[in-house]
Amino acid sequence: MKGLLLAGGHGTRLRPLTYTGNKHMLPIANKPIILYGLEHLRNSGIRDIGIILGPIKEGVKELIGDGSEFGVKVTYIEQGEPKGIAHAVSISKDFVGDEPFVTYLGDNLLKDGIDSLVEDFEKNKPETVIALSKVKNPQRFGVVELRDGEVIKLVEKPKEPKSDLALVGVYLFKPSIFDAIDKIKPSWRNELEITDAIQKLVDSGYKIHAHIVSGWWKDTGRPEDLLEANRLVLTDLEPLNLGEVEEGSVIQGDVQIGRGTIIHSGCCIRGPVVIGENCEIGPKTYIGPYTSIGNSVMIRGGEIEYSIVMSETKIICEKRITDSLISRNVTIVSADDSIPKSQKLIVGDRSSLSL
Ligand code: TTP
Repeated sequence: MKGLLLAGGHGTRLRPLTYTGNKHMLPIANKPIILYGLEHLRNSGIRDIGIILGPIKEGVKELIGDGSEFGVKVTYIEQGEPKGIAHAVSISKDFVGDEPFVTYLGDNLLKDGIDSLVEDFEKNKPETVIALSKVKNPQRFGVVELRDGEVIKLVEKPKEPKSDLALVGVYLFKPSIFDAIDKIKPSWRNELEITDAIQKLVDSGYKIHAHIVSGWWKDTGRPEDLLEANRLVLTDLEPLNLGEVEEGSVIQGDVQIGRGTIIHSGCCIRGPVVIGENCEIGPKTYIGPYTSIGNSVMIRGGEIEYSIVMSETKIICEKRITDSLISRNVTIVSADDSIPKSQKLIVGDRSSLSL
């Protein structure tokens, strides 16, 4: 079985963060999103992986290379303009050949990986297995209608959903999907939709098995999703201190501190929090739960909570920053202490702010 990991697309909903880089390179708990998918594919036994790249490629090839560092063999497939998930699958026909394959949307995170999906596919031998997750607001997702565990209908963002089972971005296909894609037309948003292609398989009488995933699932398309995914991953953080914590600072809960990092006196770090390598925190700085801080970051003063701060950024201010995504190489300083004290920010690469 082969793997197809999608990392194309424009990532418009994550601008300005995606003006300067591929969204699958954004960090969740200090690890690029794309590596979660790559590792899930590898852990399920798949070694031959095609990675789809679109117009914004920055960093992906540099990080993953030929895959050997991650125990897999990677082939890059250039999609160019994002014409839909089914389009990305169709251009991978030569790579896939006659084998069954897992299609994994690179911006999706699954707590429990995909082992059980692959086992289901190999044991029950349906034409396709689709992963589903129960959601509170099915109107926002692709939703399926089931009869006796088999899919009978797929609907994108239904106004009146027939179930609360949303399509997770993982699909196990056989080469029959390529004929199905040949039969579909672009949707209203001018994309070849994978749901339309799967519906064609259903209409042709193929057995499409629905597999409800255990554990949480998160699609990281919007800024608030990135912060929520960061929270979910940090919930299982193992505490580890490879840095230095000066006397007079308090570390509470699960906190990871990287090599070369120094926490100056008078700080409170309340986990779950991950801090990368060679950072300088404090003095007198509060870092609150569900915060990830990349490598070589300086934070001096103020409070930060439920946020992602990427590498080489400098925050020197007495404000409170929450629910924020702050990119690489950003400088934030506070010019004065006037109210409002609390800030909610989404800041792109190499920006400079004075609060
Ligand atoms: P989407 O979130 O639907 O699209 P996007 O990533 O371009 O984001 P936005 O809607 O904010 O502009 O994509 C879901 C996943 O599929 C994501 O991992 C990117 C990938 N993808 C491709 O590789 N090629 C494509 O043509 C499309 C549409 C998506």
